[in-house]
Amino acid sequence: MATRHFLTLLDLSPEESRYLIQRAISIKNGLKTHGPTYTPFANRTLAMIFEKSSTRTRVSFETAMAQFGGHALFLSPRDTQLGRGEPIGDTARVLAEMVDAVMIRTFSHQGLEEYAAASDVPVINALTDDYHPCQLLADIMTWTELRGSVRGRTAVWIGDGNNMCHSWINAARQFDFQLRICCPEGYEPRQDILEAAGDRVSILHDPQAAVENADLITTDVWASMGQEEEQARREADFAGFQVTETLLDRAADNALFLHCLPAHRGEEISETLLDDPRAVVWQEAGNRLHAQKALIEFLLLGRVEP
Ligand code: CP
Ligand code: NVA
Repeated sequence: MATRHFLTLLDLSPEESRYLIQRAISIKNGLKTHGPTYTPFANRTLAMIFEKSSTRTRVSFETAMAQFGGHALFLSPRDTQLGRGEPIGDTARVLAEMVDAVMIRTFSHQGLEEYAAASDVPVINALTDDYHPCQLLADIMTWTELRGSVRGRTAVWIGDGNNMCHSWINAARQFDFQLRICCPEGYEPRQDILEAAGDRVSILHDPQAAVENADLITTDVWASMGQEEEQARREADFAGFQVTETLLDRAADNALFLHCLPAHRGEEISETLLDDPRAVVWQEAGNRLHAQKALIEFLLLGRVEP
């Protein structure tokens, strides 16, 4: 059987995606009830290549492997031959001889695709400049846990048309909900990703209008990793796009707020937004652990029926 990778949400079918969300919820409940007694990965190893900083992604993958009875290896270009120019394809072949799966956080999505093409073991995208699909598994899991099926609902993305925004577009396709993207002119998501989503996704430029009656609001930093030198210009361009409690008041009564974190209080969100009960970002962050357990289990073992 061909090796399954998870480079974008579209690597799973919509049906597999829904399975993964339910499986993640079930794994989370099992952990709460029985503790970390489910150990399907005894002696299995996940290699984690980080070319960008991380808190949540590293801790969730490493803890997932530990609780599953396996092991995770942290690899950074600074300390490996990747940083000294060993070709990515050679690294992929070598790691596949030793580990059971590889997780990569990097800049170029094309570089990730090249790595995956050379890898005989599953490769997981832990963020590229273009996508952050693991975060969306946790986000859809959180929304589902708190509000039931997301099918037919309306989410609003406020901010940059970045990697997270692209993954929200793919999520709208996979989980069949409406997505309004509200960004300043010139910060729209990639046209091809947008067009592929058809009429599930619309672009707006007025946050007040965008959030009207929405079921979920989400945002992200204005300058992503690798765009640090654009910070000042972006702060000016995104003025008026801050998510505040007052903005959320225009959404549906039971609307939720998500943020992948880290957040910049006083920039893309108000100083106090994360203290608002509609903000469920700590649960969202914690769900990275459970969603990624379901993902690794699926890639290595296939479906595990309850
Ligand atoms: N949301 C997220 O991926 O966080 P980290 O950058 O801390 O991994
Ligand atoms: N868009 C952000 C997400 C961080 C988790 C970045 O790429 O830096």
